[in-house]
Amino acid sequence: MCRVPPVELCTQRSSLSKRRGFVLRERERDLEREREVGKLVLLYRVSSPDRPKMASKLAQNSRSMQHKKVAFWFYRFLSVVYDERCTGVAWTEDIRDTAIAKADLCDRRLKVLDVGGGTGYSTLGIVKHVDAENVTILDQSTHQLMKAKEKEPLRKCTVVEGDAEDLPFPTDYADRYISAGCIEYWPEPQRGIKEAYRVLKPGGKACVIGPLYPTFWLSQFFADKWMLFPKEMDYVDWFSKAGFQDVEVTIECPSWFRGARRHGLIMGCWVTGVKNTPGDSPLKLGPKVDDVSKPVNPLTFFARFTLGSFAGIYFVLVSYYLWIKHLIYPKGLAI
Ligand SMILES: C[S@@+](CC[C@H](N)C(=O)[O-])C[C@H]1O[C@@H](n2cnc3c(N)ncnc32)[C@H](O)[C@@H]1O
Repeated sequence: MCRVPPVELCTQRSSLSKRRGFVLRERERDLEREREVGKLVLLYRVSSPDRPKMASKLAQNSRSMQHKKVAFWFYRFLSVVYDERCTGVAWTEDIRDTAIAKADLCDRRLKVLDVGGGTGYSTLGIVKHVDAENVTILDQSTHQLMKAKEKEPLRKCTVVEGDAEDLPFPTDYADRYISAGCIEYWPEPQRGIKEAYRVLKPGGKACVIGPLYPTFWLSQFFADKWMLFPKEMDYVDWFSKAGFQDVEVTIECPSWFRGARRHGLIMGCWVTGVKNTPGDSPLKLGPKVDDVSKPVNPLTFFARFTLGSFAGIYFVLVSYYLWIKHLIYPKGLAI
């Protein structure tokens, strides 16, 4: 997969993201207005995460990798080749650095959490702006973290094994929260975003980088079998409900996608929000539903693992398909 040539950033990015940022900021204002007049519930019902509880539970159950233990074992194997095979195609250093820039790492003394930091691929981008001793990498996978520990520029980072949905940090702790490519495995994304809010200091900023739901039916089918592919408004709703202000969404894709969104994006959506007031999130949730230590039926586990791996292969093939199309199609033509 790394044999794909380095990519430039999609040229449509700035206008597209500006437009979307504008639309979503407008939407934010609408949410504020609705909140004031007490119509929030109605508004959320008509917006996207808006599926009734039972339907959303069923959808989550069918997404094989949106499960902590399955994700743990998936990365047990993937960690061996993660840096060589899973980075550099859609999640290039260029795109990573542009995404991280959204977190405003404006001072080397900022205290930064990299949640779901894995092998430290994104952390390498973070320590370009912040001193490594101020950066904490958290992940639920020992095997991924072992790879991060081997990287010289990350030697001074603090490495913590833990769950993104239940962060082992005090309230009002960090200046920045960054999480790249992790939300898709969270059984309760709202809980993870609420935790991001809790651990940030007032004035702190969260930047979550994740996938975007496809619009083409076959890709939707495999996405729903694989892991969580949120829609733009899902992200906005999770951030807003957690208490974040100034929520912004940026969409980015490698140039060889030529703006094609129909097969979804794996790391193409970056969402940022600012915490303005101290303390925990105003959102109250019950106990968490999933834990990596929770026992799982071996048959269910095997079915999830196999199905999830196959569904993931579909998206690897789609990447090759788009890349070949990009090479064949005349320049400037949409693919
Ligand atoms: C696609 S990798 C991303 C790694 C890194 N952020 C990067 O940019 O390359 C996803 C990581 O999320 C971790 N992960 C998945 N679910 C998690 C959870 N609930 N808590 C903490 N880490 C989790 C996995 O172990 C894996 O290392």
